[in-house]
Amino acid sequence: MSAIIIDGKARGLALRTDVAAGVADFVAAHGRAPGLTVVLVGQDPASAVYVRMKGAATREAGMVSGEHVLPSDTSEAALLALVAALNADPAVDGILVQLPLPRHIDTDRVLAAIDPAKDVDGFHPVNVGRLSAGLDALVPCTPAGCLLLITEALGDIAGKEALVIGRSNIVGKPMAALLLGQSATVTIAHSRTRDLAAHVGGAEIVVAAVGVPGLVKGEWIRPGACVIDVGTNRVTGADGKARLVGDVDFDSARTRAGWITPVPGGVGPMTIAGLLANTLKAARARASAA
Ligand SMILES: NC(=O)c1ccc[n+]([C@@H]2O[C@H](COP(=O)([O-])OP(=O)(O)OC[C@H]3O[C@@H](n4cnc5c(N)ncnc54)[C@H](OP(=O)(O)O)[C@@H]3O)[C@@H](O)[C@H]2O)c1
Repeated sequence: MSAIIIDGKARGLALRTDVAAGVADFVAAHGRAPGLTVVLVGQDPASAVYVRMKGAATREAGMVSGEHVLPSDTSEAALLALVAALNADPAVDGILVQLPLPRHIDTDRVLAAIDPAKDVDGFHPVNVGRLSAGLDALVPCTPAGCLLLITEALGDIAGKEALVIGRSNIVGKPMAALLLGQSATVTIAHSRTRDLAAHVGGAEIVVAAVGVPGLVKGEWIRPGACVIDVGTNRVTGADGKARLVGDVDFDSARTRAGWITPVPGGVGPMTIAGLLANTLKAARARASAA
């Protein structure tokens, strides 16, 4: 068997096109474009690249992109004051504080200070709670994108055996909540899980969000399973060149899986598209509440 390779790049682009159309309708109805403001503290080069990409994608979708780049020694109080100002700014529909923050800043306190209605990352405890209670919420972009890829591949997933590997607040836990929301039978594996191979072998859906290159072996995979690889790991190849690989051993896994996402070009492009979709959703909700 050779798996269908899920083209996240094309799917992400299609989602961005849909968002752009929604933005045009929003502008026509409300006389302003939705606004997304990203806050970056410090000089982390990977974070700076993400922030640039997010800004470009926001503008491309027809939205207003705001950016605050603060020095790495910014105090927590100053960051909280900026968040409060953005909460109060009617032109700002979405606020994203780029993680990780410098160690002297309490990340949980900053995330909890963001207005839940503008929390386009879906990390505020109110949105976490709403998702887990099965209520409408702003949902973290990466797992939301994964769910879209899974349901487009498989259709109705009610009753299917789903395994999420990883239990982070950013990916693993919200992914499990989303799959449960679709009535899948969900197992969450983590670093203390015994016999990961056996869990993978029983799963019709596998979402790997770990950060260990090639952790999931092809021979573990149940034939025909839908395999979503969130892992984004930079490794140095035999040729000495850096490249990105996932948490799944792609070459062996594709011979058993029914569907599989590549790295890069799978889940990654869905994340930014999901961020834009969340910003439009937040703008619509705020406009209808006004
Ligand atoms: N494509 C995207 O847009 C995107 C977005 C976000 C993240 N990512 C990538 O996804 C990966 C995970 O990110 P994250 O933020 O969720 O990472 P994280 O916070 O480091 O969480 C990793 C999880 O993996 C578990 N784990 C570690 N070793 C394991 C093992 N040997 N077997 C089973 N589980 C194991 C950990 O278990 P414990 O809880 O027991 O420690 C933890 O729950 C990373 O590669 C990251 O770069 C990609």
